[in-house]
Amino acid sequence: MSVDAINRALATVIDPELRLPLTELDMVGEVSLVGREASVQIKLTVVGCPASARIERETREAVLKVDGVDSAKVTLSVMTQTEREALKIKLRNGKPPRFNPFGKDSLTRVFLIGSGKGGVGKSSVTANIATALALNGHRVGLVDADIFGFSIPGQLGLTDRPTRVDEMILPPVSASGVKVISIGMFLEDSKPVAWRGPMLHRAIEQFLCDVFWGDLDFLLVDLPPGTGDVAISLGQLLPTAKTVVVTTPQIAAAEVAERSGSVGLQTGQPVFGVIENMSWLIQPDGSKLELFGAGGGASVAQRLADISGQRVELIGQIPMSIALREGSDAGKPIVVSNVADPAASAIMEIAKKFAAAKIGLAGKPLGISPS
Ligand SMILES: Nc1ncnc2c1ncn2[C@@H]1O[C@H](COP(=O)(O)OP(=O)(O)OP(=O)(O)O)[C@@H](O)[C@H]1O
Ligand SMILES: [Mg+2]
Repeated sequence: MSVDAINRALATVIDPELRLPLTELDMVGEVSLVGREASVQIKLTVVGCPASARIERETREAVLKVDGVDSAKVTLSVMTQTEREALKIKLRNGKPPRFNPFGKDSLTRVFLIGSGKGGVGKSSVTANIATALALNGHRVGLVDADIFGFSIPGQLGLTDRPTRVDEMILPPVSASGVKVISIGMFLEDSKPVAWRGPMLHRAIEQFLCDVFWGDLDFLLVDLPPGTGDVAISLGQLLPTAKTVVVTTPQIAAAEVAERSGSVGLQTGQPVFGVIENMSWLIQPDGSKLELFGAGGGASVAQRLADISGQRVELIGQIPMSIALREGSDAGKPIVVSNVADPAASAIMEIAKKFAAAKIGLAGKPLGISPS
């Protein structure tokens, strides 16, 4: 029974936004133990930190678990500017401010998820794949780059705005642990945004550089439908990215999807694969009703393979699912809310293929030198 034991307990308390133990974030101030009464001072990063109530509660719970502690007093205060500067330098791993952590040496696997046509279920599929990867223990970030039709926060049940620590932006974290950033989180009301190329580029650059992502295994980017400015900006900012094209089985949709994939090829992003969504509806008798026809996904994959001269896989086919639609409306992805649904199993298989993807090593030094 000692102050050391209390500090060990505090190392188990994780800051919900920064996703690191309070002790590593230098958020623990004075710790004392008088008799069986513990007092702990916690220094929050910013005034009015939205996570403060949770941090206070989890700190108290952790301290009360220590042998010999009967009561725990938690005092909250705020870091000084000097302490905050030191923390920011630590969080950036010594990198300068505005550093793009997803440059060509990054170990994060980056996927740009696009479609040609709108409404093919790209955002729902992306939100679910991100969630499935997080549930499998990966560190996942998700950027909603659909500036005009952002929908990811709603699909993942996020209403929080990002906390700012000076110029550093802390992304809200979904219930399954996905760090999410969307333009929707920065708008005062839900007014439509009429931004042009340069502003879009700056917004996306900020999403990548000013947000504290920490070390990520995966970064998924939900692209706006169609092709254009956003894809070109992302191509520059995310040099290791691979594109994934979402389409429906319909041949007309497939043709548009193919065009979006081939623009990616022109801007230098290899195609990782194609996902066919809304492939069929399973009837009460178990048979598959192909509402939108068949073959769209396979045809896009084949054509993109022909154009690129590389193998392009049909990564998976996701059936129509009422539970999927309800889940995305309610902010509870189907891979959490209804794992037995065939659409959920299809998405989990797709997530496994993402997880098996190799990091693009093109242009990376091998670290060997002539002797
Ligand atoms: N497999 C599916 N079964 C049933 N409903 C689906 C399926 N996939 C998506 N949906 C529903 O279709 C609608 C459109 O999906 P979503 O918003 O994900 O598409 P999108 O391609 O991102 O659209 P946008 O082009 O507007 O960004 C949503 O209501 C969603 O819940
Ligand atoms: Mg969308």
